[in-house]
Amino acid sequence: MNIQSAAGKYGFGPSRKDIDDKLAFTNISEEDVQRLREIAPFIKKAIPGICKNFMVELSAFPEVNAYFPKDETVHRLGSKLINFWEELFKAKFDAEYHESRLKVGQVHDRHGIQFNYYIDSYSYFIEMFLEKIRQIAKERRLAFLPLSQSFMKVVLLDIDIVSCSYFTRREETLSKYAGSLNSLVNISTRLIGYTDLSNLLFRISSDLSNDVKSSLTYIYDKEQDNFAPLTSTGLNEKQKNIFQMIRPTEKEIGDVDSLIRDGAKRDIIDQIKMLKENYIDVFSLKEIMILPAYISDTNYGFIILNKDEPFDEDQKKIIQSVYDQAKVVCENIGLIYEVQDTYKDTILALAQGIEARDAYTGEHVHRVAKHAERVARKMGLNEHDVENIRYGAILHDIGKLAVPDMILRKKERLTRQEFATIATHPYKGAEIVKSIERLKDISPYVLHHEERYDGKGYPKGLAGDEIPLGARIIAVVDTYDAMTSNRPYRKAIPKERAKKILKKIAGTQLDPQIVDVFLEWFEEEKKSDRIAG
Ligand SMILES: [Fe+2]
Repeated sequence: MNIQSAAGKYGFGPSRKDIDDKLAFTNISEEDVQRLREIAPFIKKAIPGICKNFMVELSAFPEVNAYFPKDETVHRLGSKLINFWEELFKAKFDAEYHESRLKVGQVHDRHGIQFNYYIDSYSYFIEMFLEKIRQIAKERRLAFLPLSQSFMKVVLLDIDIVSCSYFTRREETLSKYAGSLNSLVNISTRLIGYTDLSNLLFRISSDLSNDVKSSLTYIYDKEQDNFAPLTSTGLNEKQKNIFQMIRPTEKEIGDVDSLIRDGAKRDIIDQIKMLKENYIDVFSLKEIMILPAYISDTNYGFIILNKDEPFDEDQKKIIQSVYDQAKVVCENIGLIYEVQDTYKDTILALAQGIEARDAYTGEHVHRVAKHAERVARKMGLNEHDVENIRYGAILHDIGKLAVPDMILRKKERLTRQEFATIATHPYKGAEIVKSIERLKDISPYVLHHEERYDGKGYPKGLAGDEIPLGARIIAVVDTYDAMTSNRPYRKAIPKERAKKILKKIAGTQLDPQIVDVFLEWFEEEKKSDRIAG
């Protein structure tokens, strides 16, 4: 008997030891085989009738009948049964037999046919065949007991093999399900409490990318009105570089958007060729799922999950559940954003007030905020710090509200007394922001924005790294913008000259490293402008 090959081929079911145990247990001997083969020709005549009656009885159960909706299926099952019992009585327990029996358990389970139905059908056949064997034994003058025992042994072996594959599959499903459930619970618990979309997208993509080949996550960049790369997994070096370079526009992913908006399915989008065709080639996208992040009907980002083979049902369910959770979190983030927007507007109005008093022209506050944000991001700071530095840049001079106009707007050289008054503005500003809960963290940036890298600044005379990083960044971008803006007492100086001056005062007035990053960023901007142009 060659049973082990079957196990090998299917990669599941009994190991060689299991099979040996089974054979020892069922104890099928050559004699058993001979006995069955002896009566096989006589049984063969009865098999079609028994099977036909079985099918008739079976179809009387509505729940079983549901599995065989078509006559054709019933007919096919009937012939399979006949074939099976004929083979069983030939008692040829070769690899082919075992393979087909292992497969039976698996196929039945997959179609949702419960194990107890299957076992019930054995009892029907055992009863019928024992009756037939009794008849044959009588007619052929054979001993019924050994014949019936041999028959029972082979039936038991058969049940054992089928049940084994039934339960192997069940166990696999169970453990897989348990694993999935576990990860689902973990992911869901961790999602609650996210108040920032980029952190949320980052978390989801890293949680969901374990079971996919690669993932690409983009987040909407309001300022540039396109989608910026946020994070990726499973890409090769070349793809990673391209990922960092490509910033898809709303227009390019319009396909997804219109489908999400127009179709009823505002959920996960399956199999949509988003972006341009060549992006699909570039990232070797095959079977993809797209998870768009919506906040009040606006697409704020998306995650593309990519696999070589189709997503299986279990995996889809997991992804959908995580996505459903994330949608709720997104709505919450939307509410937070709304509050933040109001709050940002208030801050901006406040800052523009300072701008007006300080007699800058144009968009000084906006520019300084933008530059500070870019530099902070380029230096690899986290989003929270970037955001704070941005606010710090907007509000650093808020203390000037406490400085009288006549001093602030004075075109002539300031007296010592007047300078002392102006020099209080970092203190006053820090006091103002400290009193607002959300702005507490930026008070050190406001307090120290007039410090110098060499320690000759004010109010504390801190030097180098003693000055908070945010304050050092603000000093660089504000100095540059002040030079390139028109002021009451002088005209704006050309950008190239301002850059030269920055280089000159790097190391004394300003942090040289930050000056480098700032100038680097300028170069990059220039290049991308050229490309865009
Ligand atoms: Fe200042």
